[in-house]
Formats: sequence, C-alpha cells, structure tokens
Amino acid sequence: MIEKKELLSEGKAKSLYSTSNNGELLMVYRDDTSAFDGKKTEALKGKGEINNRFNAFIMEYLSDNGINTHFLKETSNNESLVKSLDMLPVECVVRNIATGSLCRRLGVEQGLKFENPLFEFFLKNDELGDPLINDNHIIAFEWGTQEEIDKMKELTFKINELLCSLFDDAGLILVDYKVEYGRHSEGLILGDEFTPDGCRIWDKETGESLDKDRFRKDLGDVVESYQIVAHKLGISI
Ligand code: ATP
Ligand code: TYD
Repeated sequence: MIEKKELLSEGKAKSLYSTSNNGELLMVYRDDTSAFDGKKTEALKGKGEINNRFNAFIMEYLSDNGINTHFLKETSNNESLVKSLDMLPVECVVRNIATGSLCRRLGVEQGLKFENPLFEFFLKNDELGDPLINDNHIIAFEWGTQEEIDKMKELTFKINELLCSLFDDAGLILVDYKVEYGRHSEGLILGDEFTPDGCRIWDKETGESLDKDRFRKDLGDVVESYQIVAHKLGISI
C-alpha cells in the first residue's frame, strides 16, 4: 500500500506528493484547467480523471515502444505513481502543422503542414509567458547540457513518429504538443504528462478541435471532446 505523504508542489493542473516509496511521487490530476499562462482558469468536472487515464495509456504505449518514462502505475481514478525526476526547466514543443503561437509570432498562415516537424524550446516561466528560447540559451544559463539537448530532440522526434501514427490510425491528427524531461539515475527520461491539455488534436474528417483549444476559445464540451479522443484511441474509461 503506497502512502501519500507531503504535498511537494501544486501546479496549475496537477499536484505532486511524496510517498512512502523512496524516489516515487504521486501525481494528482485535478479538474483545474488553465490557459494563457494562468490568466484564464476553470474547474472542469471529470477532467482530472480522463487526463489520468489518457496519460497512463500514452505513457504505456510509449514505454512499450522503447521510450523510458517516469510513469509507474495508476493508483486511483485521478492519481498515478511516477518516478521522481529533477525536471529541466524547459518545454519541448513539436509542431506538425502551423497554428497557435507560431502563427502569431511569425505571421504565417494557419494550417501549413510541415514535411519536417518543427521543434521548439520554451522556458518554463509563467510570469514571462514561457518565452521561446534556443539551444544556446540552455547552454549559457546552464539549464541543461548539450548531451541533454540532443537527447530531448532525439526522444521528442521519436515520440512524434510513434504518436502521429497512433493518432492517425484513430482518425485523428496530432497537430502539436509539449513534453517535458527530467534527470533520473537511469538518465534523462520523459516526465510530466501527455494529455489533451498539452497538445492539439484535430478530427481527421471534420478538422474539429478536440483538445484544450476548446477551453481557450470558449467552444464548450471540453471534457466531452477529451472523451471522444480517448474513445477513438481505444482507451477504456
Ligand atoms: P505547466 O502547466 O506549464 O507545466 P505547472 O507547473 O502549473 O506548469 P502542472 O502540470 O500543474 O504544471 O504541475 C506539474 C509539475 O510537476 C510541473 O512543474 C512539472 O514539471 C512537474 N513534474 C512532472 N513530472 C515530474 C516528476 N516525475 N518529478 C518531479 N516533478 C515533475
Ligand atoms: P503554442 O502554439 O506555442 O501555444 P499557444 O497555446 O499559446 O498557442 O503551443 C504549442 C503546443 O504546445 C500546444 O498544443 C500547447 C502546448 N504547450 C503547452 O501545453 N504548454 C506550454 O507551456 C507550451 C509552451 C505549449
């Protein structure tokens, strides 16, 4: 029996607790939803549960396909046990189709499909609005090493191939997403989450957004859309 101990951190959507298992944390997926660096917030009933299930499915799929992740097991409807990591303060974004901040930043048309997916680093800093950074910032400020940068890119592109094919087979387009990595005695491994909160997913037939853009744009049916994606991927809820 794993005992939940001290609350270590309360982020915008998840809480982390230490446990009776040394080096293992309980990650609690809450219903809290936020956008625009925490400026828009709402609790969406059932989101914590669906995200916990969704993340477990994706992490297990990635692990089965050779990606080392922090995920250990689901411990309740909205909680999972993970390996404790020393997180790098950067977010790795991959884009298969141009939309969102990329279009605002570069004035490019929405919907451009990239032959070669685009990789971008952002600094994890809400007060600064998670600014775009490059490899040299990571080295200069010692947020990570060159080896870690190379590893993050290699793993993130591998994840992209695996997930694009998984989503495509389910009639969905994985437009873009964010992943995070952390240091562990096993090396740099995938941490945090992969859920519709941190990616864009479009229906292949209709082009409809089935992700957190529904919350950002007040389109409604946010949790229902996450459930549709889960159902299409064959995730049992
Ligand atoms: P953001 O939404 O921008 O990621 P946040 O900090 O508000 O920011 P939450 O998802 O609410 O995000 O909180 C989860 C926090 O836990 C993140 O800061 C994330 O980097 C951290 N984290 C994720 N996995 C692990 C892990 N295995 N060990 C330690 N910390 C982790
Ligand atoms: P992006 O287009 O840069 O941001 P915005 O949502 O402001 O238009 O985001 C690209 C993808 O990465 C999108 O699916 C959301 C995800 N993402 C996060 O979930 N958190 C983050 O902090 C960042 C930078 C991106």
